[in-house]
Amino acid sequence: MNQFDEMINRKDSSSAKWSTKKIFGDEEVLPMWVADMDFRAPDKVIEAIHQCADHGVFGYSMPMEETEKAIQSWLKQRHNWEISDNIITYSPGIVTAISMAIQTFTGADDKIVVQPPVYYPFFEMAKKHKREVLYNALKLNENHRYEIDFADFEKKVADPKTKMFILCNPHNPSGRIWSRDELTKMAELCLKHDVLIISDDIHSDLLLFGNEYTPLASISEEIANNTITCIAPSKTFNLAGLQASAVLIPNATLKRKYTQTLQLHGLMGLNTFGMVSMEAAYKHGSEWLDQLINYLEDNVKEVEKVVQEKLPHFKVMRPESTYLVWIDARKEQKTDEEMKELLLKKGKLALEPGSKFGENGAGFLRMNIACPRETLRDGLNRLVQAFS
Ligand SMILES: Cc1ncc(COP(=O)(O)O)c(C=O)c1O
Repeated sequence: MNQFDEMINRKDSSSAKWSTKKIFGDEEVLPMWVADMDFRAPDKVIEAIHQCADHGVFGYSMPMEETEKAIQSWLKQRHNWEISDNIITYSPGIVTAISMAIQTFTGADDKIVVQPPVYYPFFEMAKKHKREVLYNALKLNENHRYEIDFADFEKKVADPKTKMFILCNPHNPSGRIWSRDELTKMAELCLKHDVLIISDDIHSDLLLFGNEYTPLASISEEIANNTITCIAPSKTFNLAGLQASAVLIPNATLKRKYTQTLQLHGLMGLNTFGMVSMEAAYKHGSEWLDQLINYLEDNVKEVEKVVQEKLPHFKVMRPESTYLVWIDARKEQKTDEEMKELLLKKGKLALEPGSKFGENGAGFLRMNIACPRETLRDGLNRLVQAFS
């Protein structure tokens, strides 16, 4: 049996994803919404956590050189990206890191550019900080792939009040990986107009179908000095509940300022279990990740097959990375509220409604396919049931 076929009961395990009664008012709803996986973490990670628990002393922790080395060698091995020493800061999560960066590098009147449809905390966080959000909407091309509207992008970063651009690479919800050319073009425009880039690369390890990813900050030293890159083992190895991520800031001045904000919020340490699991995952998780990627690719193909056969008016956007499948259901001509109602009441299925990711996401659905094949097939049956 493939290890990822194992059905693990996550109810009553403090799982947000599986708290369907609390969130959707229905115990029977199958959760394929929030982005975590129904798979067990790699054995080596679990062993490291056991070892740490057995030690039994849980005083304040501090990431050591070992942790930094594990991250550096992971980036070198998986992405051929060499990062210098002393550029890493740590954060419980990427959303926290983005919030800290907004607070540090933008002021009350400043504007922040995002590219919807996109991971909604980007613009929600900016709004919570009372910054104005500029939406550089992604455009669908004739091949049903998202593209950047560069003319609009330049207009938005050229606004003298724009101080920050939050990039999602690879892109959630579509799974699109931005090409080196696209990244270079965006980065050069940001340099030209003095706009700092926050590159959220949380999905960058989950590369599907042989697609390659370029870390924006690896393109040139000048770009690296204008980029803060957020990475984490949380999506890759399903460790989100352990809350440990890394924020890479090669520019020493930016790093000093950012660190001051962390200190202001008392955010200097990591949870010991998060730190231990991050190190073990980056040291020993490569083979497990390759197996996971194979499994996810087969799950994507299963979604494509079923949707094509049973819901031919829907269009699946094949993800180049990660385990989120963006489905174009606009031909249903229903509001997101109506679709949600159908999904939850008729299909007993929880997906993310597209409009959550921005206005141009309306009519799309985001399905999390990081689950055993049996669960996936159940979810697909429910999707068909909802719209039949
Ligand atoms: C692009 C992106 N960034 C950040 C996060 C969440 O990161 P964290 O849990 O570390 O705050 C997610 C989760 O889905 C995501 O898709």
